[in-house]
Amino acid sequence: MDKLLLVLLLSLASLAAADEIYQNSSHICERCICREDPDEFFLDCTGQHFEHVLANWPPHNKTLVATFSYNNMTTLEILPDTEQKAKLVLDHCNIRYVDPGVFKGVKNVEFIDMSYNLLTTEEIDGEDFKGPYNNSVFYPIPVKHLNLAYNQIHSLPRKFFENMPDLKELNLEGNDFYVLDQNTQMALSSLSKLKRLNLADNELTELVGHAVKGLDNLVELNLASNRLDFVPETLDYLKNLQSLNISDNYIFEIRDDSFLGGMNDHLDFIGLYITNTSITLLDYTLLSWSNLRVLELKDNTLECDCDLYKISRDLHPDITRTRDGPRCIDPRTDASVQMYALEEDICDLEIRKPGIYHAARHFETLRVILITLTTMFTITTLVAVTIACLRYRKGSAYRNYNFTTQVQYNPLQTQYRI
Ligand SMILES: *[C@@H]1O[C@H](CO)[C@@H](O)[C@H](O)[C@H]1NC(C)=O
Ligand SMILES: *[C@@H]1O[C@H](CO)[C@@H](O)[C@H](O)[C@H]1NC(C)=O
Ligand SMILES: *[C@@H]1O[C@H](CO)[C@@H](O)[C@H](O)[C@H]1NC(C)=O
Ligand SMILES: *[C@@H]1O[C@H](CO)[C@@H](O)[C@H](O)[C@H]1NC(C)=O
Ligand SMILES: *[C@@H]1O[C@H](CO)[C@@H](O)[C@H](O)[C@H]1NC(C)=O
Ligand SMILES: *[C@@H]1O[C@H](CO)[C@@H](O)[C@H](O)[C@H]1NC(C)=O
Repeated sequence: MDKLLLVLLLSLASLAAADEIYQNSSHICERCICREDPDEFFLDCTGQHFEHVLANWPPHNKTLVATFSYNNMTTLEILPDTEQKAKLVLDHCNIRYVDPGVFKGVKNVEFIDMSYNLLTTEEIDGEDFKGPYNNSVFYPIPVKHLNLAYNQIHSLPRKFFENMPDLKELNLEGNDFYVLDQNTQMALSSLSKLKRLNLADNELTELVGHAVKGLDNLVELNLASNRLDFVPETLDYLKNLQSLNISDNYIFEIRDDSFLGGMNDHLDFIGLYITNTSITLLDYTLLSWSNLRVLELKDNTLECDCDLYKISRDLHPDITRTRDGPRCIDPRTDASVQMYALEEDICDLEIRKPGIYHAARHFETLRVILITLTTMFTITTLVAVTIACLRYRKGSAYRNYNFTTQVQYNPLQTQYRI
């Protein structure tokens, strides 16, 4: 009897839950916008105050493009089944939790945009992004484009991409990455087909170790708006890199060897974005400037010199045609000059100001020395203070022992009483 009641209660509860879990999708095309073109079926449910995913997709015969921007789906539940290819847009949805296997019904999903949500490292760890499960194996999902920009991710779970072997484009802009830690490196290293990686607007101070090793096919890397001091050496591994964005960083020097490994032996950049950094000088030998198709150099305090002249001379006419190019300071007159208007006479100047150049080059060494000295000083001080304290205690104990009856004179106390 009790058992029966329990079963009854349970089934009632699950009915209620089932009722709650899905957004009623009959007549969905009356509430959302449905339209199609020869290749794709579009379902646009932007701003519908949905709290749950649809129970079913509207009937469709072609690639499904489903947009749910600006809804309120705190937990993203398992999406309904479709055999068709799919593109899913779920940005600005307050998504904080994701049900395990959320995409297993959309087994041919190629494009997922979950930007501007509240996902954390802890939440995306686990089975969430796994594909369909059959005969005790998870099948991969064929997603090529994954956008997780503007969430709260600080590290990627080590096996995160295990079931996304076809990923070509990954957007992690505006998350909480301070470093690409071991797990993140492991995760990224499996993305041998990745072509575009966006890590802009994080808190990266450097890319340690082999951070991007294994991204053999990476063509475009965006590191803009981080806290980089240097062009990370690990970029050496990116033999196929063609476009690099390091704008809005603290970078003050691009060393000869910054990315020459990839540059000279293999191919050349076609896009280089270095706006708003602390760079003052650019080496002519850095890369094959004539192969660049885009060079953004605005908002730097460049110094006019022979290297800059030679660079501007080599650049493709498409770049230099805009006379509103970057400016540099002419050391002879302290005037601001258009870089593309530099003349050869700048090469008659003495070589680069050795002081500044030297200082910049050895800034890192100086920094290490300073840190070491500071650490040593701190330790020495601590030891000295500890020894002094111990001695004082020992001394006062000794005095107390000998002169217990004697009133102690305490100059500090006297001072306070004044
Ligand atoms: C879904 O909504 C339709 C009306 O649009 C209604 O007739 C139907 O009963 C609803 N289904 C559920 C499961 O609530
Ligand atoms: C799908 O295509 C078949 C024939 O190709 C057609 O009979 C059917 O009505 C279509 N369904 C939808 C929902 O368009
Ligand atoms: C979003 O949904 C949650 C419950 O899932 C609710 O507490 C919250 O108030 C909703 N926010 C808005 C803006 O509707
Ligand atoms: C599950 O796997 C078996 C073979 O391992 C296959 O025959 C079957 O079609 C699969 N089922 C689904 C739903 O993919
Ligand atoms: C490079 O980064 C800057 C600063 O974030 C941005 O304005 C610019 O659009 C980026 N360019 C490319 C091609 O990504
Ligand atoms: C330039 O970059 C710094 C960070 O290095 C950033 O704080 C500042 O907003 C940027 N300025 C512009 C105009 O983008």
